[in-house]
Amino acid sequence: MDEEFAFSEASEKEFMETLERYPTKMAALLPALWIAQNQNGYITPPIMEYIAERLDLSPVHVYSVCEFYTMYHKSPPGRYHIQLCRTLSCVLCKMEDIQGHLESRYGIRAGKKTEDGMFSLTLAECLGSCGTAPVMRVNDVYCENLTIAKVDRIIEACKRGETLEEDPMLAH
Ligand code: FES
Repeated sequence: MDEEFAFSEASEKEFMETLERYPTKMAALLPALWIAQNQNGYITPPIMEYIAERLDLSPVHVYSVCEFYTMYHKSPPGRYHIQLCRTLSCVLCKMEDIQGHLESRYGIRAGKKTEDGMFSLTLAECLGSCGTAPVMRVNDVYCENLTIAKVDRIIEACKRGETLEEDPMLAH
């Protein structure tokens, strides 16, 4: 059973600052969930209830928002969480080939975490970088203009524990 949840002191401070920046409590829902996810690693039902109570929203509303946005994890993600864009520009630029390669070569499957806990994958709606399709995001790093060879370099770099941000050949 999931544990009860409450913001830590640091999260509470961030939450209160966030509330001040938004006109209504409802408008602060996405950042509030983000703060909770940063604290816990993923969003659980008790977290949804906690956020609903803090923002005077129904738990069902919070649940539906969590389900809609792929950036919110409903279970612990892999050490490297990959979001692969599945929207039009990326489809036209053969994101299916990238997805197929991730699965056949590395066993990284959509909606799943690899057995070693290293990678997880979700198919995301437009990541906002359509001009550089196909695109995926590995944790917080955008990897654009993907090719099979570039994906191989990215995955191998992750396996070696390298930081993608520091390598312009992998990020961007
Ligand atoms: S369609 Fe893939 S980033 Fe916009």
